[in-house]
Amino acid sequence: MTTQAREIHLITRPTGTPTAENFATREVTLEDPAEGQVLVRNTVLSVDPYMRGRMNDVKSYVPPFALDAPMDGGAVGVVEASGDPEVPVGTSVLHMAGWRTHALLPSNQVRPVDTDVAPASAYVGVLGMPGLTAYAGLTRVGQMKEGDTVFISGAAGAVGSIAGQIAKHLGAGKVIGSAGSAEKVSWLVDELGFDAAFNYNDGPVAKQLAEHGPVDVYFDNVGGDHLEGAIFHMADYGRIAVCGAIAGYNAEAPEPGPRNMMMVISKRLRIQGFIVSDYPDATSEFYKTFGPLVASGELVFRETAYEGLDRMIEAFGALFTGGNTGKMIVRLS
Ligand SMILES: NC(=O)c1ccc[n+]([C@@H]2O[C@H](COP(=O)([O-])OP(=O)(O)OC[C@H]3O[C@@H](n4cnc5c(N)ncnc54)[C@H](OP(=O)(O)O)[C@@H]3O)[C@@H](O)[C@H]2O)c1
Repeated sequence: MTTQAREIHLITRPTGTPTAENFATREVTLEDPAEGQVLVRNTVLSVDPYMRGRMNDVKSYVPPFALDAPMDGGAVGVVEASGDPEVPVGTSVLHMAGWRTHALLPSNQVRPVDTDVAPASAYVGVLGMPGLTAYAGLTRVGQMKEGDTVFISGAAGAVGSIAGQIAKHLGAGKVIGSAGSAEKVSWLVDELGFDAAFNYNDGPVAKQLAEHGPVDVYFDNVGGDHLEGAIFHMADYGRIAVCGAIAGYNAEAPEPGPRNMMMVISKRLRIQGFIVSDYPDATSEFYKTFGPLVASGELVFRETAYEGLDRMIEAFGALFTGGNTGKMIVRLS
């Protein structure tokens, strides 16, 4: 027996904002799994900002997507046929063969997940890479201490919404978030427990942050005006954990840096970028403390879900226009 699968290929590298013309959806025939392989039907595809960097042909911490080949990324699916008794048919698994309906994979490239603890989608969100990024960024890079004032940009997104709650749980004195709409700002304060939040479209970040500083830890998801604004309001010896710089991902030319770098000297700031995989030791610590809080509902997570592989490009584009609250995913039936 064979399986007809559909997969999205990158066919040209985008300049600026990606368009539908950069991608093609292609049909392929997958054989039944051989010994040591599994056939997975994907149910949840992860949609992440870092994928934009992989569309460029530049050296980075993950290789660029190859042209005319299936793209990849986090996904959760169900094993439909198995050549490995350790991963039987019906097992829900996390793997990296996203951007497609089905995947034929070596069984050692899939990780079973427990969908009784949390829904499958949580394993690409709060209990997956974004949750771990939030934890590692705050604890390892930001070195957050009890009583600290923490500022988080992109606060209503997958990483930011979890980072804010983790900061509160770890005893931050004050957690401030920025996001791009009034609804998101209300969600941060009313449901997630942020102490304050502002809509960056209401005025310059530097101006709106003024009443909330000085900031001990800035968790930067955005870069650009947010980074410059935060530097103005950092406390002496403050730490800036540079997680992402989404404001510049679609830029056609290098973006100018913050104009107030002299303050890094006068305030003795430490600015450090990081990649989630830099801190494998944080993984078990994170699951031990926050896994039960996810299961009990104390750690709140939200998802924005698009339906169907054909909406993958649209979902990806919406990351750059604020179309998601919490984790962006695509569901496949
Ligand atoms: N270093 C690592 O290991 C690592 C791991 C995971 C993620 N990241 C980075 O962390 C950041 C957040 O990732 P995520 O997965 O949680 O994505 P996300 O925050 O769920 O989605 C992106 C959000 O960014 C905001 N945004 C888009 N363009 C913006 C702009 N020009 N200015 C301000 N905000 C803008 C939008 O929200 P608004 O409505 O608020 O604008 C959008 O919803 C990204 O920069 C990502 O690359 C890094």
